[in-house]
Amino acid sequence: MTRIGILTSGGDSPGMNAAIRSVVRTAIYCGHEVLGIYSGYQGLVEDEIKRMDLSSVGDIIHRGGTILGTSRCPEFEKETGREKALKTIQKHKIEKLVVLGGDGSFHGALSLAEKGLDVLGIPCTIDNDLGYTDYTIGFFTAVETITEAIGRIRDTSSSHERGHVIEVMGRRCGDLALYAGISGGAESIIVPEEKANLDAINQKVIQGKERGKRHHIILVTEGTWDPYRLAERIQNETDVETKVTILGYVQRGGTPNISDRIMATNLAAQGVLALEKIHGAYAMAFKNNRAEILSLREALKIEKKFSKTLYQEIQMVSI
Ligand code: ADP
Ligand code: F6P
Repeated sequence: MTRIGILTSGGDSPGMNAAIRSVVRTAIYCGHEVLGIYSGYQGLVEDEIKRMDLSSVGDIIHRGGTILGTSRCPEFEKETGREKALKTIQKHKIEKLVVLGGDGSFHGALSLAEKGLDVLGIPCTIDNDLGYTDYTIGFFTAVETITEAIGRIRDTSSSHERGHVIEVMGRRCGDLALYAGISGGAESIIVPEEKANLDAINQKVIQGKERGKRHHIILVTEGTWDPYRLAERIQNETDVETKVTILGYVQRGGTPNISDRIMATNLAAQGVLALEKIHGAYAMAFKNNRAEILSLREALKIEKKFSKTLYQEIQMVSI
């Protein structure tokens, strides 16, 4: 029997609960014990831990957020914080730690592995910004949320013959804008990976208007352009009234979609099965539609690639 600790860290993502459920149930099925750590690394620093049983993860597969809570924990980034965390780990005799989160959370896990703990990362973030896995848990649900929002905004834009700049999340990764841009039929997208061409965006608005288009949707990844300044310039240079919506945190919440529930269950179950055999730091990946396990250190070295193919498809189909 192994004592496994589990925490969720960084920005929450839809599907985290499905992954927690899968870790807990698979571990108990295999005869292990699971301790839930509250509020990410903060729970390790402050010793907020509770034993989990089969019913503590009942009725959560369909819920957004995370029942364990999450946090950004600056204290854990300092040696003093990590020492406190290690004391908690030793006190509760945690032998293996499962970390659900993104890039930052995985660096945190690596720092614990360097002190001798076995760790396993499961990729959970709406940003899809991890290069070593095809997709992260929560990404497709967020894309669906944005796509639905685009549909609603297009209805009102068409009614009023307006342009609309929609800011989406993603931190330094344009995948949310890219995938939602395709599924929502956006006219243009601005992402951190590609240089924005405002003249081309304006040209598309003007040409669309000339052929009778009544809406113009421009998706912008947060941090690339000020959406209000962008809308003002589009409006001034095309004479099409242009409004702004910042989608914000609605993108992070909500019930996980089917693919996120399945991916979460799959990666977490296979991760727990693998945990029995591994020592050191590992990460679960979803590659070519199946769960894979690889060294966490190697995983974090793999650069995230932006799909130029999908980006080009947006340019072609949105004329
Ligand atoms: P995400 O996991 O979604 O990328 P963050 O980057 O905010 O989210 O990281 C989550 C938490 O992981 C941080 O608040 C911090 O506690 C921990 N963390 C991030 N980077 C490191 C690091 N280099 N060393 C130790 N802990 C880290
Ligand atoms: O990493 C997920 C994410 O939602 C990013 O897209 C966004 O930049 C960030 O988290 C917001 O973080 P916070 O919850 O700390 O405001």
